[in-house]
Amino acid sequence: MSASLRDVVLVTGASMGIGADLARIFARDGFELALTARSAGLLEALADEIAATGRARPLVIELDLARRDAAQELAARIGRDGGRVHTLVNNAGFGLIGAAGDLDRAEQTSMIDLNVRALSDLTLAFLPSIRAARGRILNVASIAGFLPGPGMAVYYATKAYVLSFSQALAQELKDEGVTVTALCPGPTPTAFFQRAGASGDPFGPFPKLTSAQVAAAGYAGLMAGRRVVVPGRFNRLLATLSGLSPRAITLPIVARMQMARFKGAPP
Ligand SMILES: NC(=O)c1ccc[n+]([C@@H]2O[C@H](COP(=O)([O-])OP(=O)(O)OC[C@H]3O[C@@H](n4cnc5c(N)ncnc54)[C@H](OP(=O)(O)O)[C@@H]3O)[C@@H](O)[C@H]2O)c1
Repeated sequence: MSASLRDVVLVTGASMGIGADLARIFARDGFELALTARSAGLLEALADEIAATGRARPLVIELDLARRDAAQELAARIGRDGGRVHTLVNNAGFGLIGAAGDLDRAEQTSMIDLNVRALSDLTLAFLPSIRAARGRILNVASIAGFLPGPGMAVYYATKAYVLSFSQALAQELKDEGVTVTALCPGPTPTAFFQRAGASGDPFGPFPKLTSAQVAAAGYAGLMAGRRVVVPGRFNRLLATLSGLSPRAITLPIVARMQMARFKGAPP
């Protein structure tokens, strides 16, 4: 690895929501960034916003991460720009609300392509440079990763994978100075629920954090080398209870909660 390469933080799904807020925090603390998502206009606007604060302008890479060659394409673009990834933030992801048997099959498998396959492939592809730099990995999971989720079955399962993969990798890399952190937010107001097909207010009476607060908690946990970060006291309680309560009790509750979000949604 050439010493002349510049260390960069690669943030996926940086065009909006939690990913954009994570990018703002890394930039504030002086990290150089590469930002990727499909919405080039939003990425360019964020890069302009960061450059206007006097920080280095992030490299913008417009890319559909569901593409099989996404990791290769990102590595090539970052390499051509003279960078190497020392910190990887796997944030891009989406969910779908509804019964798995009723939702579109291709859309659900494309969720697995993004939330699971792309996240794993990027992690493995950039691991050599992250190892060389004794860097960090932040994988955005969810409190959905702690239990099965009838009404969002595939999404919950993808996040269980992210949580499991991250914790196992953290253990494997612990003696190499590389940390792996799984960020597990609770429901957070972003474009996520609209994309998922939710109707009305998907949050109900429960306390919720902003995406900036979630990003700040994730960043702090990453920098502290924590393996699992659940932002918010209420979400930490839910995560703990989901591990303690029998599935026969939790599954009907989750099913009712998810289907209530779906009710009244346009067909
Ligand atoms: N919001 C919540 O309640 C919540 C709770 C727990 C966990 N999470 C997780 O947090 C992460 C960020 O979600 P968010 O709430 O910030 O949602 P969001 O505002 O919808 O952001 C999702 C990001 O992923 C990107 N993305 C989606 N599909 C992509 C694709 N095929 N290729 C490349 N980028 C893609 C989107 O960019 P483009 O559309 O421009 O490609 C966008 O930047 C996700 O992994 C989500 O599962 C969210």
